[in-house]
Order: sequence, then C-alpha cells, then structure tokens
Amino acid sequence: MSQPTIESILEEKRLFAPSQEFAQQAHIKSQQEYQDLYETARANPEQFWANLAEQELDWFEKWDQVLDWNPPFAKWFVGGKLNISYNCLDRHLTSWRKNKAALIWEGEPGDSRTYTYAQLHREVCLMANVLKQLGVEKGDRVGIYLPMIPEAAIAMLACARIGAAHSAVFGGFSAEALKTRLVDAEAKLVITADGGFRKDKVVSLKPEVDKALADNGAPTVENVLVVQRSEEKVHMEPGRDHWWHDLKAGVSADCPPEPMDSEDLLFILYTSGTTGKPKGVVHTTGGYNLYTHVTLKWAFDLKDTDVYWCTADVGWITGHSYIVYGPLSNGATTVMYEGAPRPSNPGCIWDVIEKYGVTIFYTAPTAIRSFIKMGEHHPNARDLSSLRILGTVGEPINPEAWMWYHRIIGQEKCPIVDTWWQTETGGFMITPLPGATSTKPGSATLPFPGIMADVVDLDGNPVQPNEGGYLVVTYPWPGMMRTVYGDPVRFRRTYWEHIAPKDGQYFYFAGDGARKDEDGYFWIMGRVDDVINVAGHRLGTMEVESALVSHPAVAEAAVVGRQNEVKGEEVCAFVTLEKDYEGHEELSNELKQHVANEIGAIACPGEVRFTDALPKTRSGKIMRRLLRNLASGEEIAGDTSTLEDRSVLDKLRGGS
Ligand code: WT7
Repeated sequence: MSQPTIESILEEKRLFAPSQEFAQQAHIKSQQEYQDLYETARANPEQFWANLAEQELDWFEKWDQVLDWNPPFAKWFVGGKLNISYNCLDRHLTSWRKNKAALIWEGEPGDSRTYTYAQLHREVCLMANVLKQLGVEKGDRVGIYLPMIPEAAIAMLACARIGAAHSAVFGGFSAEALKTRLVDAEAKLVITADGGFRKDKVVSLKPEVDKALADNGAPTVENVLVVQRSEEKVHMEPGRDHWWHDLKAGVSADCPPEPMDSEDLLFILYTSGTTGKPKGVVHTTGGYNLYTHVTLKWAFDLKDTDVYWCTADVGWITGHSYIVYGPLSNGATTVMYEGAPRPSNPGCIWDVIEKYGVTIFYTAPTAIRSFIKMGEHHPNARDLSSLRILGTVGEPINPEAWMWYHRIIGQEKCPIVDTWWQTETGGFMITPLPGATSTKPGSATLPFPGIMADVVDLDGNPVQPNEGGYLVVTYPWPGMMRTVYGDPVRFRRTYWEHIAPKDGQYFYFAGDGARKDEDGYFWIMGRVDDVINVAGHRLGTMEVESALVSHPAVAEAAVVGRQNEVKGEEVCAFVTLEKDYEGHEELSNELKQHVANEIGAIACPGEVRFTDALPKTRSGKIMRRLLRNLASGEEIAGDTSTLEDRSVLDKLRGGS
C-alpha cells in the first residue's frame, strides 16, 4: 500500500457515478448543473462570487468593489463590513437553530459536551470580553495553543468577534516551534491549556508555553489565558497567567461583534516551505468567510439535518476552515473529537459515528490506511448506516485505500469527496460535488466553480492530457491567502514567480505536480519542492535539517522523504558528524528526540543514517535526488556526472 505512481493511476479506469437517489436531493444535482455553474463563474467570476456573497452571508455594510486585483495582491469585497463570528453565531439565533447543536465534543477519557448555537454564542462573548479585559484590541494578534477541546473553537471565534487575529499553533509542536511563531506574529496574548489528552497520555501544553516565554523569548506576549483541562499541576506566573474559569466569572456575556472590514486580518497560520522559517499565511475576513461557507456547502452537500465530523486538528487549516468557520457559518452541527485510534481503543472512530449518527465524515488517507491495518472487523461491528458522504484530504489517496473506504465504511453508497487544497488556498479547490461528479479512485476530479486551475509547464503552457506538469491557479479566488505575514516579497517569490507571468497572466504555483486526464480530471502527484508530507502534515526539509545541525554532534544534515505504508511519507535523515563523535544507535535515538524537541513529534526522523560525506555537486549543492533513491533502497536514477566526489555514493550505498 503506497502512494499512487503514474503507472498505477494511469491504469485506474473505475468510475463511480452518484446514485440517482443521492443526486436528486443534492444542492448540485448533475454534471450538467456543475458545468453550467462552472461556465457562469468562468465567464464572470466577480458576478458569481458577488451573488453568493449576497445570498450566503450577512453584511453590516455592502462592498463597493468585488475584486481589486493588483497581482499578486487581491482584495475581495472591498469596503464591505461584516464579522465572521456574527455569521457563525448571531445570525442563527433568530431562527430555530438557536437551540440546535452547533458543536458536539467527544473528549477523552470519556468526557463529552454539546453546545447549542445559543450556548456557543454565550461562551464566545464571555471569552471575547475576557480578552478585552486583558488588553487585547482590534488588530492585535493572539496565539492559540490548545488541544482539541471546545475552547479552541471558542477562542478563535472570540478573537474574530473583537477583531483580533488569531495565530493557532498545533498542540503537537514544541516550545521552540511555538516561540518562533509567537515572535513572528508579535502575539500579545497566548491562550493555552494546562494539558491535553493524546491517545492514552496527558500531553503538557502550559509548560511548553512557559519555556517559549522564558528569558523574554517572545517579548510581545503580555498575558497567558489558561484553560483547565487535564488537572495537571502547572506553574502560574503572577500578573501574566490567568485561569479562564476565574476571569470568565467576572465578565458580562454581552459583547457586540466588531464591524470588520472585509480585508481585515482574520488569522495567520504558519506552514512549511522549501526554504527559511515557516511562512505566516495570511487570511482575511470576507473572502475567507464566503469561500469556506460555499465550498463546504456544495462539496459536502451540507444540510441542516447533517451531523458533520472532520477529524483534523483545529491547529491546522482543515480545522480552521472545516471544523470551525465553514460548518458554523452554515449553521451546521460540527463534531470535534479529542481522541485518536490507538491499540487500547482501535474502534473509537466508529463508536463516535454510531454514537452521534454522523452523516458526513472527513478524514485523511493516512488515517484510512491505519484503519485498514487495524482491521475491518472494527467498523463492521458498528452501525455506520447514518453515513451519507465520505471525504478525504491531505495527500494523494492510493486507489486501494479509496476502495476500502468506499466498500467498508461507505457500504458502496456514500460518494467519496477527495478534496485538494492547501493552507494557502483557504478552502477546497479541486473536489467532486457529490451529487454531480462521477469519481475515480485517486483523483480529486474537477475544480470548484470559480476556480481556474490548470496543469502547465515551466513556461506556463498547458501540457497535453495525461502529461505531468505543475498545478497552477490562473485567477484569484476569495479564499486565497493575501500575503506572507510581514513579507510580501516572499509571497510574490514563493507563489507567483516560479512560473513567470506572461501577457498579464499570473500563475499561482501550488508546489504540487499533477496531470489532467482525457476527461479533464486532475490527478495530484505530490510535492515538486523540498516539502515532505508526513501523515498529511507539511514539513520543510530545511526545518528538519536546521534542527539536526543545532545538535552539537552534527556537522551537516540532509533530509529527504521516503514512502511509509501508513504515513504516506516519513523523514529519512543523512548526517555527518563532528569529529570525536561516532554514529551509533544511541546517538541516532538522541538525534530523533532532539528533532522532536525542536519541532515536534511529527518531524521525528524514521531513520538517521550516518555518513562520512554527503553527495554534492561541484558547486556544493546537496544532491537530494540521489539521497531519495538511497533512502528508499532504489537504484540511483538519472545523471550523476555533476557529483563532486563519486566515491561518496559507493560508501553511502554500503549503508551504515
Ligand atoms: C498540500 C497542502 C489542505 C488541508 C491539509 C493539508 C497535499 C492536500 C490533497 C489531496 C493530494 C493533497 C498537497 C498540498 N494535499 N490535499 N486531496 N490530494 N494531495 O494542508 O498542510 O497546507 O498541505 O497537501 O501536496 O500542496 P497543507
């Protein structure tokens, strides 16, 4: 079981059409309807998005201009005023949805809580007032470092309500990674918890915040708001650290939403790239609200009767767009789960589906592969008949995993929605619409209406059907990132210059390779840059290399990805040592731990190989291509004539 190869997917000819029964009740009911929508949007994208913005969102003031496109900088709904927390909460309180379950939370070990729209609104207003009391103002940035608890959604919405931007950091990241992000965003306050539950362990969070802030590590942070979750004993710094439950008791539950400009900063989310430190991806209010709302509504055919569950962590974009903002803006019931499948409870996912009658389930290929490993007797022993749509995201899904998902979980009746998108795109870009699109296992199928996606060569020319090329988007869309926080030059360089603009045509370069088949279906081939996709999480090879060389034993390090049965890819590190150090297993383990401390457990190399030298070109560039071959035990492919010292390869082949 592995990632798809060109050969395997070229052979993939299976086609699954939506059933008539499903199509009839769907928002978008046929391929013809999709094509008409796509054509309407293509002919006049501004009108298309403006109509939706009017129908789907509430605005305090209407915009003056739909799109201001000054490549590569876009502004959407210029002059419009709204508040995303209003669209996610307040507007549902005037209808029957007031007492509908907004957020169902299944916690560990055995906790659960349900918030109606009215209750969630109240909690958000309380936290918003606490933030204000702690000096947070419109335009400030707030770090969020929380486990998968309702307060994570509450914190995001509370920031949005008062016009402060959040910058969430995945709870699995280390103190060091947290610090870098807090510093870059110049966060004024951090919202965290004493700890969280991960699998069968309590993970520490507050102590990591303490470490990040120690020695004035993140000097802009004035206060820390701490949610009590795990009953871990934690240090509370007088004057700086405050318990949420204490402050909550002293504020009013009345907090009117701040009218925000459509282009006001909503959040920053850091993501890995090829070079340098992680990039702060900037999303703004109006376009992001509209885009997450409409994409979720159509791609998951979201209805008021649905119980929708996305298994991502709120610390990633999937959690932002499709656990919190997209579902709540639609007035849906969104499920949040703190647990994860583990040997002590391998069937927990299916228990949650059965318990709450989940109708839409959205997860990642890496999770599906781990479900396959645990065995189909777990899902088979539960009643999964409530399910009607299944989704996947994060990496290319191998057809075997797709078929298993379809047969075992979907009972051959649930359409599979394979959504290609990125932190940068804000929401789904290439995805089936389940009542309209026939699916092919392994293909994310067709672009969402309004998305001009293509596969081109380095000169920007479209390639022939079934020929590989670069995945690009050729027109702005409302959910697109606006810039790299504090670094517009990097934004332009990273995304808009890889394929040079020509004749006024700009190309958003996604970093993925892809091909389009004879039906125009997109097949994503994976990253074409030095980014590794470990269990659906993006890791820059440079970040891992910097972490390795910060260890005193390491002279040089080169990191590549190699296939892993469950995670898709794993990190394989090649390391040369300083003199006086010897490569042995103990040091290898120490280096793995060191990377986990510097970045987080997700970056931990699966293997560390010691070597006397790294293969380099005469100009000193590490030849990663060769290392990739070596890491996966393949023959060295392609030209090696530029290698400076050929004996290095022979030694490396010998292994260590
Ligand atoms: C990268 C973006 C967006 C949510 C999760 C990851 C890969 C994502 C798919 C898919 C093939 C996919 C791409 C992309 N990717 N979804 N359905 N099929 N590849 O967000 O961390 O920003 O990573 O994930 O390589 O560029 P992210």
